[in-house]
Amino acid sequence: MSTITTVAHLGDFVGETVTLRGWIYSRSGKGKLHFVQLRDGSGICQCVLFKKNVSEELFEAIGGAGQESSLMLTGEVSADERAPGGYELQVSEGQVLQAVDGYPITPKEHGTDFLLSNRHLWLRSKKQWAVMRIRDAVITALRRFFDEREFICVDSPMFTPNACEGTSNLFELDYFDRKAYLTQSGQLYAEAGAMAMGKVYCFGPTFRAEKSKTRRHLTEFWMLEPEVAFADLYDIMQLAEDMLCSVVKEVLERRRPELDLLERDISKLEAIVPPFPRLTYNEAAKILAEHPESEFTYGEDFGAPDETILSNAYDRPVMVTHYPNEVKAFYMKRDSDDPTKTLCVDVLGSEGVGELIGGSQREEDLDVLEKRIAEHELPAKAFEWYLDLRRYGSVPHSGFGIGLERTVGWIAGIEHVRECIPFPRTMYRIEP
Ligand code: 4AD
Ligand code: MG
Repeated sequence: MSTITTVAHLGDFVGETVTLRGWIYSRSGKGKLHFVQLRDGSGICQCVLFKKNVSEELFEAIGGAGQESSLMLTGEVSADERAPGGYELQVSEGQVLQAVDGYPITPKEHGTDFLLSNRHLWLRSKKQWAVMRIRDAVITALRRFFDEREFICVDSPMFTPNACEGTSNLFELDYFDRKAYLTQSGQLYAEAGAMAMGKVYCFGPTFRAEKSKTRRHLTEFWMLEPEVAFADLYDIMQLAEDMLCSVVKEVLERRRPELDLLERDISKLEAIVPPFPRLTYNEAAKILAEHPESEFTYGEDFGAPDETILSNAYDRPVMVTHYPNEVKAFYMKRDSDDPTKTLCVDVLGSEGVGELIGGSQREEDLDVLEKRIAEHELPAKAFEWYLDLRRYGSVPHSGFGIGLERTVGWIAGIEHVRECIPFPRTMYRIEP
């Protein structure tokens, strides 16, 4: 029995005989030779089968095995600079586990709709494989970042009795004999966590009945939300800047081959270093007013085209603060210098990708918050527990939420968030 290994570890076995287990990504060759591009999830390796070196049975079986046939191949590892990945397997033995004929996704161009309908298979394609590996590295880097800063992970529930981010895009469901909602954000619970633990984050799926068909919106997306007791707006802006720089740096270190495979312009990522430009809403509004293509109206929230104009103006993420109260959530604290504005921040990614992060300082005064809940016509009773956080040891506190898929799309250079989550959910798609 030879050692079983993966493509990622072939470098440790040059000159030795090992076994790889995987699937045929593609196959070529003729007459007395097969070249199998074996895909095992960790990478792709060219495996060379000379008719004279293997059993007749194996040579025949490989010759009849189409794309995505499953197999095991044993052979000597050789280093070859010309081979993709740098190593080859000179096959001596092996077995086809299942010979496949007619795999639906072929190297020819398929339409996005077809690919999305076959998402369970599409994940095996090189580009999707690379995006998923980058997504994984972003998650690890985020968790590492917060862990190193002594944040405690306190996750929020998915079933909730109340709305966090407005009532217009809530998913309502029957919860035994009452109504419940799928959470839009774990923030309110993260605030309770921060009062218990000081510095916390939650990280999980969030749900919004977005009727928009844009490249930035999913109905189910992942959000990581730090919340910090005694922090003000500027503290969490610093945190967001440190976090983005740290995540980009780590992904550059750990997923360079995947970024290369996606033909990502690395210099754009290397430019993501502090300090990030900071603008107030008023300053941003002025830039838009002077821009020939902007249709922005002062007082309103920025639309996707406005965000694109603003983020295209810089080579790194830009932080926009002090939006008008009307366009922001009930829990945000107002600016004492200008009570028409909110102590909030949106971080817009570079290269025109738009909002990656939304955050704020929270209103910590009980009376003010009660008034806000009434003004927003939110059901007071469902927020009683949240108001307890202002009754028992209220302190200034702040936090933000970073959208995972938008961040992955930004780093990987993927246009549409639907390719940044394993199984995307949008208004038009709940399958597979
Ligand atoms: O700006 P948002 O709505 O902020 C909140 O939910 C706050 N409660 C977060 C907090 O302070 N703890 O959403 C935060 C981020 C956005 O910046 C965006 O990246 C992402 O979540 N996001 C979406 N991503 C994909 N599809 C959608 N429909 C999204 N909606 C928001
Ligand atoms: Mg937002």
